[in-house]
Amino acid sequence: MDRYVITLGRFIIESEREHPGATGALSNILYDLTLAAKMIHREVSKAGLVDILGMAGKENVHGEEVRKLDEYAHDVVFNAMDHNGQLCVMASEEEEGLIQIPGQFPTGDYVLLFDPLDGSSNIDANISIGTIFSIHRRISEGRDGTLEDCLQAGFKQVAAGYVMYGSSTVLVYSTGQGVAGFTLDPSIGEFLLSHRDIKLPQPGKKIYSCNEGNYARWSQGQKDLVGYFRGDDGNGGGFSHRYVGSLVADFHRTLLYGGMFMYPADSKSPKGKLRLLYEAAPLAMLCEQAGGRATDGVRDISSIEPEELHERTPLYMGNREWVDLAGEYLAGEEASVAG
Ligand code: AHG
Ligand code: MN
Ligand code: MN
Repeated sequence: MDRYVITLGRFIIESEREHPGATGALSNILYDLTLAAKMIHREVSKAGLVDILGMAGKENVHGEEVRKLDEYAHDVVFNAMDHNGQLCVMASEEEEGLIQIPGQFPTGDYVLLFDPLDGSSNIDANISIGTIFSIHRRISEGRDGTLEDCLQAGFKQVAAGYVMYGSSTVLVYSTGQGVAGFTLDPSIGEFLLSHRDIKLPQPGKKIYSCNEGNYARWSQGQKDLVGYFRGDDGNGGGFSHRYVGSLVADFHRTLLYGGMFMYPADSKSPKGKLRLLYEAAPLAMLCEQAGGRATDGVRDISSIEPEELHERTPLYMGNREWVDLAGEYLAGEEASVAG
């Protein structure tokens, strides 16, 4: 039944109307991100054919050079966003430094931080991957944005979201008034509203999600926490362990089913593996907007003042009760972990 279909574009416009002072700039940014998402979807949906189309860095059957999807996705987002006059600077997981807006284009009042392709190790196995984005309002003056504009704490985000390229392609985002999800209908090229107001189920499914392959390098508190979920101590137990290895997929499941996702610090990576600015902070905004909690084991992710563009952070996010429990098990532990 196609009646009452709400497209992402219509939803953005209606949301803008609820903000009397809105200039449409943020709507414009979100709209252009949607275009990038559709273009990445198109390439990703062919990725499963990568053997036929050729491996990245080599030529495909058409004699075209096949690009790494990470780099391709980065370029698609950059080219979709560099000329709309709404951004003063960008930063990407795929680029070491700041990405300035080319001189021939006007700049605007917003900052875009993004992980163009998350979970890239899963591409060849046709497992869900994603794009993550975080939007801040600039704090500097002048034409070009600065590092200071990028290094803002998560609670200052004006919008955050992700696209998951899975069995279907979904776009989930928030501008601070709850979380909405849209599913791409490729036959009409539109993202259609499929999840109007996502809230973490309370209580959620008893699912814990982490890479247990790192167990030996975890702190004792982290080991005991997972021991509780596994029922090693005879007290907890009754949980399922689920781990995709694509943050966007593990988060999307946590958002819809509940439980907790963890990427702890370990003795090899004392700050964990995931990036604060364009992985943890945007997903933390969505998690909080959906009634959950996101911490580094101790502090709320959204309160952390970034010091570097690509800095990492341990990450615990999902139902509040489990994130709080993690805090209890990790209390008193130094940032470093068991040797
Ligand atoms: P990216 O592909 O953007 O580098 O992100 C990969 C991340 C994240 O998607 C996932 O949660 C994590 O790597 C998985 O790491 P492990 O393979 O170490 O579990
Ligand atoms: Mn990533
Ligand atoms: Mn990535």
